[in-house]
Amino acid sequence: MNEGGQVRAGRMRDRVVLGRRWMPTEPAEDETERLREELLETRKRLRDFKALINRSPAAVFLWRVTAGRPVEFVCGNVTQFGYTRKEFLDGDVSWTAIIHPDDIACLEREKEECAARGIDKFTREYRIFTRSGEIRWIEDRTVAIRDERGITTHYQGVLLDVTDRKRLEEMLCNTREELERRVAERTAELALVNEELQLDIAMRREAEESRRQLEQMLQQAQKMEAIGTLAGGIAHDFNNILGGIMGFTELALLDIPEGSPACLNLKQSLKAQHRAIEMVNQILAFGRQTEGDPIPVKVSTIVKEAVKLLRMSIPAMIDIVLKNDAASDMVIVDPTRIHQILMNLCTNAAHAMRERGGRLTVSLFNVSIDLEAALAYPEILPGLYIELAVEDTGHGIDPQIQDRIFDPFFTTKKPGEGTGMGLAVVYGIVKDFKGAIDLDSQPGKGTRFRVLIPAIESREEECTTTGSIPRGRERILFVDDEKCLVRIAEQLLTRLGYKIVASMSSIEALEAFRSRPESFDLVITDLNMPDMTGIDLSRELLHIRADIPIILCTGFSEQIIEEKARKLGIREFIFKPFIMSTMAQVIRDVLERRE
Ligand SMILES: Nc1ncnc2c1ncn2[C@@H]1O[C@H](COP(=O)(O)OP(=O)(O)OP(=O)(O)O)[C@@H](O)[C@H]1O
Ligand SMILES: [Mg+2]
Repeated sequence: MNEGGQVRAGRMRDRVVLGRRWMPTEPAEDETERLREELLETRKRLRDFKALINRSPAAVFLWRVTAGRPVEFVCGNVTQFGYTRKEFLDGDVSWTAIIHPDDIACLEREKEECAARGIDKFTREYRIFTRSGEIRWIEDRTVAIRDERGITTHYQGVLLDVTDRKRLEEMLCNTREELERRVAERTAELALVNEELQLDIAMRREAEESRRQLEQMLQQAQKMEAIGTLAGGIAHDFNNILGGIMGFTELALLDIPEGSPACLNLKQSLKAQHRAIEMVNQILAFGRQTEGDPIPVKVSTIVKEAVKLLRMSIPAMIDIVLKNDAASDMVIVDPTRIHQILMNLCTNAAHAMRERGGRLTVSLFNVSIDLEAALAYPEILPGLYIELAVEDTGHGIDPQIQDRIFDPFFTTKKPGEGTGMGLAVVYGIVKDFKGAIDLDSQPGKGTRFRVLIPAIESREEECTTTGSIPRGRERILFVDDEKCLVRIAEQLLTRLGYKIVASMSSIEALEAFRSRPESFDLVITDLNMPDMTGIDLSRELLHIRADIPIILCTGFSEQIIEEKARKLGIREFIFKPFIMSTMAQVIRDVLERRE
């Protein structure tokens, strides 16, 4: 047994002996025997105790607190680390030397801290190298042992290999980290899905809302289309009836002395008929039933004509000013439609000034719409435009109704004064022109409507105006399936000096012409007739006599197949219901062109 072992054994004996109240007297014989037995017993116990320690997994050390920390005791199972007891006891291997260098600094710090604070028991974990170089984790429970004066003389260490536990802990820690990572990943995924879901819901809501709005718009459009078709149908029939009324009124006027009460009444009636025709035309225009072909026209010419007409119907307390600041004002449109725009805008303006009078200004400008300006009018493209402005000093338009005035049937006028179709028609026409309309109005001060119409650069071609009623003596073949119109034409043309053969059947008319082609100077035929249309009849007539002048009559609502008709050789067109003067003028024009 080495030195440490002896000291320890000695101590043990001291304790055992002291425990038995040892008396320092000369032992008797049997007393010696008893002591020997006791000693043997004690040694046996000590061996058992050592065996017990060696069987335990913990290695036990006892270090002296002197330089170099010599090992005073180490148990046998220290061999589990590949070193022998002797190597430690002889100082060939020191415990501190086999500690992992990365753990040393921390251990020293802890030890100093414990010493400074007078702590006698401390537990630490660190790594050591076994003899084979393997790294093991150690749980080190150290106790400081003090002497009777309280000075630390030894350190006793119980060192347990906890490598397996550490590995388990590490695995557990890794598993927990992995789990946490996966949970975080999944949470992020779910958050993303949730976000997408929210977005999807919002988009669905939006789509649903716009679908609802589109549905409403579609319903509104369908309703308007139905109204247009219905109104167009009624207006078409009404147009024919009006044609009869007007024709006979005009004829009656020819027989009545100028200035007589009957003449005045008939003139009033004619005025009302003109107003009715205007309304019918408005309705037809709204129902998109009138489509005169676009031709190059000067806007200023139409404006001049319209203002002339307006001057007659607008009260004298309203001044009309015409300003033409447009150097070139050619556009390609159906001229009647510009007329319609002007009539509607000016009638509205006059209505707004009817109580206190004021000034109505119609002006024309050249406007160039660049990209930036086009943004203000999303419906039009950049380019050159003619601006037609109608300005009044009337009562203005309440801002609250400004976005409704273009709606069909929106009116603030008393029943009988307005149908609310004027601006709806204007809007429809401007859209067809691929133009734009805007409005600037201040209640109490006045209103200005600006209409932009795409301009062209080509030179002017004047549109015709009507003159006084011309007469003639030529022979005319007149064909129309409407009895009333045939009678009017018969009377009217006869009164104008012409010789007329009238027919209500296109087949009969064709036969009459075939038998005496040279006895006619002109044919006036309706377009829509049963058995044979005006176009087919014309083709046959021209086949018989290629130079026969033909005028085609057509209702406003009938699509004028003008190009086709002109190619065929038809000279001119008359729109129903015919106004006596217009009809007479067209007849003269055609006949004179021939001559
Ligand atoms: N220059 C204007 N000044 C003041 N209010 C106007 C002017 N132009 C239009 N309005 C308002 O806009 C409404 C709609 O005009 P719109 O021309 O469409 O119909 P209307 O004139 O009432 O009837 P209609 O033209 O069919 O005879 C008018 O009733 C009026 O309230
Ligand atoms: Mg109006």
